[in-house]
Parts: sequence; structure tokens; C-alpha cells
Amino acid sequence: MHIPTLIERKRDGGSLSEDEVRFLIAEFTGERMPDYQMSALAMAIYFQGMSADETASLTFAMLESGEKMIHPEGAPRIVDKHSTGGIGDKTSLVLAPLLACDDLWVPMISGRGLGITGGTLDKLESIPGFSVSVSREKALRQLEKIGVVMMGQTSDICPADKKLYALRDVTATVPSQPLIVASIMSKKLAESLDVLVLDVKFGSGAFMKTREEAASLGSAMQAVGSAMSVETKVLYHSMDEPLGRSVGNMLEVVEAIEVLEGRGPSDLREMTLDLAAEVSLADRDQLERWLDDGTARAKLDELVECQGGRTDDLSRLESVHVAPVIRDINAHESGKILKFDADTVGRASLALGAGRSRAGEPIDFSVGFDRLAKVGDVIAAGDVVARVHAASESAAEEGSKNILEGLQCES
Ligand code: URA
Repeated sequence: MHIPTLIERKRDGGSLSEDEVRFLIAEFTGERMPDYQMSALAMAIYFQGMSADETASLTFAMLESGEKMIHPEGAPRIVDKHSTGGIGDKTSLVLAPLLACDDLWVPMISGRGLGITGGTLDKLESIPGFSVSVSREKALRQLEKIGVVMMGQTSDICPADKKLYALRDVTATVPSQPLIVASIMSKKLAESLDVLVLDVKFGSGAFMKTREEAASLGSAMQAVGSAMSVETKVLYHSMDEPLGRSVGNMLEVVEAIEVLEGRGPSDLREMTLDLAAEVSLADRDQLERWLDDGTARAKLDELVECQGGRTDDLSRLESVHVAPVIRDINAHESGKILKFDADTVGRASLALGAGRSRAGEPIDFSVGFDRLAKVGDVIAAGDVVARVHAASESAAEEGSKNILEGLQCES
């Protein structure tokens, strides 16, 4: 098979057979297909799409690029959640330890920042010492010990997604249904789950801008899950304003910890509980109690300790990663907030250095926004509507200007 010919066929709207898709993914994972060819193929898929059969072939080829987790006979119910990505979406950081308070196993494989959205792995790495590089053997030992592991794709679990995900992040090829389905479902199928809940986002800060696009993505993922005997549930959430009040890696971990301590923003708490209730054996009241009585917070400590993180730093992350400039952002207008545009806030956060513009680039854990005002708040001109954490005065100035463009009030 000739790689440029296959790229050309997809570019021109033709389809790829199962063998061809498998060949391309094997060549890419085996370092025989360079990044520039895979980037061109991703862009061709972005523009031309893929049929349901091609999408299934891509998902299975990516799954087969590595191994699946094998859980022992008699293991507890194995569950997970995955979001299609949003701004300020740190639910995984709350939900994974919360679910592990129950008699469940949560083998969560996540990703890094993608496009305008942040990534669970980057957020976790803002905890000093925390390692997201976990072998299959260690993951299983950790599940047996504490019921939860939070890890990235590795050279033996979904290596194709590890490489393709990093390329998509910096080549404007993220918002493509087949690429999202294959990326998410290959990771989730590798976990050998019993039950999966998918959090499909739509709106300005999501990859799917409309509810209809989100529904199509949700159904496509559900079809792949069901075909592999994973009970797959789908919840849809609007992503027109950031979730919670913080956007940025360390700042989001701080906010997730607040929720794990029974505090924090109610939208984040409620969404986490909604998602957890879909896969948990415990009822919602019990899940709430675990957030409020310190059980879920203690589980986070266990998780961090198992993965090499310094638990003492969890309550002082803001002093571990201090941005050189932290300042209030004041509103120019008065009235009830109608919109605090998630896409605008996400792009402003990327520009501060919270995401990447080249694959493999380091990110700045300290930067972002917190104390974000919420839609429905009534403000007066001059009120603080957010705080910016930036690497320099000029970046803070730019960041403040950028996010105010996303604020709209009813005067
Ligand atoms: N999350 C993923 O893991 N992959 C995507 O493509 C989008 C969200």
C-alpha cells in the first residue's frame, strides 16, 4: 500500500478499507509513517469525514495499536466517564476519586490539552511528583489497592492515540467526529469497562457547536461501545460558559479539590454528581455524603500518593505554581451577565500559555483565570469579573482584554 495514494483518496472524498486503515495506523505507530503524512491524513478526514464503517475500523485499529487491560475474574464493576472536552471541565478530577469510594474500579485513561480545551493529564501533572505514565501491570495493582488509576496512553495502551492526539492538538484537526470517536472509544475500550458514561458537550467552547452535532457524536460513540458490549450512557451538556470558576491547569485542580472537600462551584459539583450517578452503584445521596464528609478527598490523597505525587502540596498548589502577575479583571459594563463566552475564555487561556502550539511543548501550570463571574450574576461597571494569572504584565493585559470580549451583559 502506498501512503500518499491513500491520503489522496481520502482527500478526494473516497473511502478507506479496514485493511488500509489498519495499515496506516500500524505504520504511524511503528514510526514508519511520519507526522507530516498523518497530519495531512487527519486534515483530509477533517474535511471529508468517514463513514460509520471507516470510523469503526479507525477505532479498532487504534485500540489494537496496543493492549487491552485484563481484569481478574471476580473484579468489581469497572466503570469510567469521558468528556468530549470543554473549557474549565475538571469533572474527571472529582469524579474518579469519588467513584472509587464505591465498590468499583475506575481505570481512567485520559488525554492532554486538546485544541482550546484543557486536558486531565496536564492538570494532574501540576501536582508535584504526580506521574501519569503508568504501565498496565502497575495500573492493575493500583486498582486492586485503591480502586482508581488516572493515566495517559502509553507505549502499550493506545499508543496510536497518544501520537495522533498530540498531532491533532496543534494541526487544527480536533473537531472531527470520526477522529473524536476513535480517540475516545479506543481509550475506553482498552480499559475493558462494564459501564461508561460519556459527557458530550455542545456550544461555543465545545468541539461540537450544535446540539444536533453533539447528538450525532454521542450516538456514534454509543454504537461503538454497544458493539463491544460496554454499557454506554450519554449525557449532553452545554459548554457556552466555562464550567466552574477557574480555567488553567493548576487553578482547575485547586477548584476540583474544593468540590472534593464539599465546597466549590455548584455547577461543577452537580455535573459531577449527575455523571457519577449514571455508573455508580451508590445513590446520589451517598455520593453527596462522600463529597461532604472527606471520604472522596481522602481517596484523592491515596491516588496522588500511589502515583508519586506529594499529598502535602495538594492544599497549597497555588503557592507551588505562582504566576508572576496575578490581577483582577474589572467589568466595563453593568447589568445581568448574559454570556461569558467559553470559546473566548479558552482561547485567552491558551494564549497565556496553558496549552501548546507545538507537539510536546511544555505548558505553564500557573497561568489561567479564576474567580470567573457566571451567567446570571448581576454586576456593575468596575466589579471584578475574573482574575488573571499570567507570566508577564503584557500577557496579563492581553489576557484581560481578551476575556472581556467574551462578556456580554443585559443593560
Ligand atoms: N477527548 C479525547 O480523548 N479525544 C478527543 O478527540 C476529544 C476529547
